[in-house]
Amino acid sequence: MYLTREEENIYNGEQGPTLQKMMEILVALGDIYDAKKLIQVKSAQIAGVSYKTIGDAGLEWIQDLEGKVRIPAVLNPMGMDREAFVEMGIDPHFAKKQEEIIRAYEKLGIRPECTCTPYYLNRPRFGDHLAWSESSAVCFANSVLGARTNREGGPSALAAALIGKTPYYGLHITENRYPTVTVKVDEPIHGAEYGALGYLAGRQIGDGIPIFKLKSTPTEDELKHLGAALAASGAVALFHVLHVSPEQYVLPPDKMDREPQRLESEDDWQVPERFFLPRERIEVDIAEIRETARQKASPDIIALGCPHASREELEEILSLLHGRKVKKEVWVCTGRSLGEKNPELIQQLRSSGIKVLYDTCMVVSPAANQFKCMMVNSGKALKYTPAMCGVDAVMGTTEECIEVACRGD
Ligand code: F3S
Repeated sequence: MYLTREEENIYNGEQGPTLQKMMEILVALGDIYDAKKLIQVKSAQIAGVSYKTIGDAGLEWIQDLEGKVRIPAVLNPMGMDREAFVEMGIDPHFAKKQEEIIRAYEKLGIRPECTCTPYYLNRPRFGDHLAWSESSAVCFANSVLGARTNREGGPSALAAALIGKTPYYGLHITENRYPTVTVKVDEPIHGAEYGALGYLAGRQIGDGIPIFKLKSTPTEDELKHLGAALAASGAVALFHVLHVSPEQYVLPPDKMDREPQRLESEDDWQVPERFFLPRERIEVDIAEIRETARQKASPDIIALGCPHASREELEEILSLLHGRKVKKEVWVCTGRSLGEKNPELIQQLRSSGIKVLYDTCMVVSPAANQFKCMMVNSGKALKYTPAMCGVDAVMGTTEECIEVACRGD
């Protein structure tokens, strides 16, 4: 990989051991993926924050680093709400270690905003190059905003934050962003069904780039859930939705790395002439989507806000309550900044008995382990909760989650 003189100096240790270590990470990554150079990135989002996932080894590694980030950088959710950890049932030892992790990141100039929806803090622009690591945030940035980021690991996102650059490969390059598989759903879907679609389709797509041909127009929150589930059950980092996504209109077919295939006149798959859909096709059965999004169970916790809830989602939850109090444990996870900008909304939700938790989530917090069965409205949480928390998970629509919470059954 070509390095400028300054990059080479960093690589040779002339700007200290931390930057040298970070440059080594970037160069190693660039070598693996055959990157030709480093490019500037506008922001970094760094995973590897919860003490549950990184432990003492991770904490010591971060504490040993020195210097300051060169670009705006935020963190992934941590293992607890810093102000409500007692309420969450987090033990003091964990809380102390978690605080040490956050302080170690802060010392490097990273804002202690711990969220998987960093785009609510600072919305990247179309075409911006980023180094983000949380998989749903990566999917959202690439697919909904048309920004460009690979799915970074925690260390490589941190290296990008400290150096201000990332290797130029993968989804930073236009030719690698064209769809590889067409996914069709024959009837309109809405709400949690988008998460269910991502959960079902992701398993078949793996790390491909799907383009969805849908009968309904998803909202931004629905796209967020689709992408989060695709990234969790598959390894999708970019998807397109025909007539919706920002990018398909600006990628001319001659930029494809293979021959574009114009569709045969098969009615069902016909699209306007200007679009080219990949030959490989998947059809997801509407009955299976509906069934996945509506599972019957008697949960002992209902957890919403995966990915972190938007203001619109918080308002939806409040309106579904119709003034009732919840009779079960209910968590709604969101970013602290978003919550603090909407104090009345949060207050109303909390007075119904809901625990609105900031900067943490049901998957990365050890507090989830105290429950047996978790009801979620997210395809991503449905996939991750059993594996990462040892808790059974069932999926419901947001409406059904709130009904179950209020009925107490
Ligand atoms: Fe975010 Fe946690 Fe879900 S990090 S996407 S709320 S698993």
